[in-house]
Amino acid sequence: MPQFLSRCAVQHRPDPRALMEAIVDHVAAYLATALDHERFKPLGMATGRTMEPFYAALVQRLMTWPAPQLEQLKRCWLSFNLDEYVGLPPGDSRSFAAYMHAQLGCHLDLSPCQLQLPDGTAKDPAEEARRYGSALHHAGGIGLQLLGLGGNGHVGFNEPPSPAGSRCRVVTLQQDTRIQNASAFGGNSEEVPEQAITLGLDEILAADEIHLIVTGAAKAEILRTALLNPCSADVPASWLQSHSSVHLWVDDAAGAHLPLLF
Ligand code: GLP
Repeated sequence: MPQFLSRCAVQHRPDPRALMEAIVDHVAAYLATALDHERFKPLGMATGRTMEPFYAALVQRLMTWPAPQLEQLKRCWLSFNLDEYVGLPPGDSRSFAAYMHAQLGCHLDLSPCQLQLPDGTAKDPAEEARRYGSALHHAGGIGLQLLGLGGNGHVGFNEPPSPAGSRCRVVTLQQDTRIQNASAFGGNSEEVPEQAITLGLDEILAADEIHLIVTGAAKAEILRTALLNPCSADVPASWLQSHSSVHLWVDDAAGAHLPLLF
């Protein structure tokens, strides 16, 4: 088995539903341990369609927790999202802030300051990117980072080319990314903002543990490229190979091009 795959924790399940339950097992155990030890590090949150069934399964699981434990989690929760569109206020249903409120915040009664995202309406987006990166740094960096995978190999909104040392910054979205994300904008890619603020690979790779979640046949080839080819700025997700604690979660369709998985 290729070197990186042999040292990353690979979990595969036949379908996304079974996969999300397995990830929730891990994340719920992580959260319970953090609360037990009173060491709650910020969580790194991702958006996108892949993540929707994960948040649904996570909320469902947390609702089975004993009330005192759930209350403790709600009090301690602090997460930093990867990215936000430039120009969209949190009240805009297409913003990632609105996504996080709908998927998680409203179910767990989390306040906006517990669910940190870059401010897409900041007058100076470059300054906001610096502020957001620094806020994450001062909060202690990410403990557990969730990641989806873009069709062009992006993580967060680190579009190709993105070097491993890239920091939180304003990025211009590629046309194929705007097309892929158009469903939240009535199917019109022209409505998708041209820019976003994203954590860089530098902040992502500083997380204690990284969970890359990939579902569906459409991502199988880019996933193979990211994990098996040499690291390259042209495939930003490939930098994950340099991290010592990557967990890869795939359904059978997304993992179909990886050797020795099945
Ligand atoms: C988006 C987000 C990423 C997400 C990826 C995949 O553009 N910025 O954080 O992981 O693209 O999205 P989806 O799960 O909808 O395919």
